[in-house]
Amino acid sequence: MTQRFATDVLIIGGGAAGLSAALHLAPHVRVTVLCKGDISSGSSHWAQGGVAAVMSEEDSAASHAQDTLTAGAGLCDPDTVEFTVNKAPEAIRTLIELGVEFDMEGNAYHLTREGGHSFRRVLHVADATGRAITETLNQAVLDHENIELFSDRIAIDLINRSRLGRYSSRCAGAYVLNQSTGHVEVFQAKFVILATGGASKVYLYTSNPDSSTGDGIAMAWRAGCRIANMEFNQFHPTCLFHPHAKSFLISEAVRGEGGVLTLKDGRRFMDRFHELGELAPRDIVARAIDHEMKRTGEDCVYLDISHRSPEFIKAHFPTIAARCLDFGIDMTREPIPVVPAAHYTCGGVLVDQFGATDVPGLFAIGESSCTGLHGANRLASNSLLECLVFARSCADQIRTMLNQPIERVRIPHWDESQVVDSDEDVVIAHNWEELRRSMWDYVGIVRTDKRLQRAQRRIDLLKQEIHEYYSHYRVSHDLIELRNLITVAELIVRSAMSRKESRGLHYNLDHPELLKESVDTILFPGSIEHLTVLRPAG
Ligand code: FAD
Ligand code: SIN
Repeated sequence: MTQRFATDVLIIGGGAAGLSAALHLAPHVRVTVLCKGDISSGSSHWAQGGVAAVMSEEDSAASHAQDTLTAGAGLCDPDTVEFTVNKAPEAIRTLIELGVEFDMEGNAYHLTREGGHSFRRVLHVADATGRAITETLNQAVLDHENIELFSDRIAIDLINRSRLGRYSSRCAGAYVLNQSTGHVEVFQAKFVILATGGASKVYLYTSNPDSSTGDGIAMAWRAGCRIANMEFNQFHPTCLFHPHAKSFLISEAVRGEGGVLTLKDGRRFMDRFHELGELAPRDIVARAIDHEMKRTGEDCVYLDISHRSPEFIKAHFPTIAARCLDFGIDMTREPIPVVPAAHYTCGGVLVDQFGATDVPGLFAIGESSCTGLHGANRLASNSLLECLVFARSCADQIRTMLNQPIERVRIPHWDESQVVDSDEDVVIAHNWEELRRSMWDYVGIVRTDKRLQRAQRRIDLLKQEIHEYYSHYRVSHDLIELRNLITVAELIVRSAMSRKESRGLHYNLDHPELLKESVDTILFPGSIEHLTVLRPAG
């Protein structure tokens, strides 16, 4: 028998966005938070540089907004930008009240600098800002009697129209795999918030933890939401290059504090690409590195901050210095080998200023959403900010809707009568590898029409195979993620194919120019063939 849980607000995802929303809602309603693993399962925990907010006299919200708009290359929504930067100091105050101890310099907060920012405006806790924030939020969540946190739960699908008949389009909850028991459970709720993070795991090389498989984006797409701007995948210029270093980022703050990029022979190259050199916007730095690696045939470039004192480096970058030492690299004395890797999903579930999606009762916040803040390229350290600001606006909006009458529907149980245990998990592993490699090779930092077509052909084949597998075998963690990754890959490629220009993070050698008029890429439900399996009975 399917186990059932009922709550007022179901939040899928326990990163900065999900945990913040839970804390804003908990004084008013019962909240349930689900995550795939523990708090370190999301990107939030691994965030290094910090949170952008105007905190100094010489800086201004107008300047923060202008830098965000410039990075976004003409596609940011100016109202959303203004809304977010104006709410930034309030979001920081909330974190401080909860107990986050941002680094100080004398009586003021130490503000670090990152690419694309005109001022020092990034608050941080050394180089482990995400850990400090998520640990603080997590503790507050655990302490709150109105919040129940379930880890090791992976949401499979949202429950709405397709499951509940033509007349109920409202989202009523989710089917969720309990990874400890292997059983699928029903979580029923009046409101559902997706806070599942990004989709960078669709690429072979990424700075992200394993959970970033775009689950929320894929679930929302299957549930009938529009998805926007998926071609804008941000590649972080500097991830540690070492055969055993999986997904380790070298923060942009290292460049902000004077780190320079060099070739193997020690020569700098960024001044040939942009007047801001190492602190040019990320897309430009990543493309420059990609260009230099292809030109010289080298496997990596180098990031050198060894001209600063060892005391300074160890004080500002203790986590990075320690991790580099694990691999025998002493960043106080030598350059760090680095390469670009997939880092951030600028597109996502299309939402308004409250995180509301196209499906009634369903919201999306954080990296899974597309709010209009980032446009064609995200400004560094604006992501945690977006998580915090939209978590609050979404929670405030849900609070105004709590008195609305919401019909309680009967949710069918999960039907496993037609499936058996998978007998060849190697198929999943193989498809996973093939998909991520194709995305890296054909839909990476520099694209062409031919590469995108190649990717689409492979996706078409893999989609069939994954669908067949999903139709015949019991769901597992890896199968759920693979099914979502193939959906996300297709959304990225279709979006990339439809953009006939190069803008922000999307660079296509066949269309190198910037069109005068440009709009968001919005994919409508039904525009791509769905291969859907309805598991629930009823
Ligand atoms: P996440 O923090 O990724 O959390 C997602 C949550 O959803 C996790 O709990 C996961 O378990 C859960 N989840 C996912 N799928 C499911 C499912 N199907 N069922 C149940 N649960 C699910 N941004 C900045 O602004 N400043 C920085 O300094 C910065 N540094 C970064 C450094 C690194 C290494 C990385 C990877 C990213 C960095 N970013 C930074 C980006 C930023 O950290 C993320 O965009 C942001 O934290 C996303 O938060 P989120 O709450 O939306 O998602
Ligand atoms: C970093 O520290 O370089 C990451 C900052 C970000 O992604 O915003």
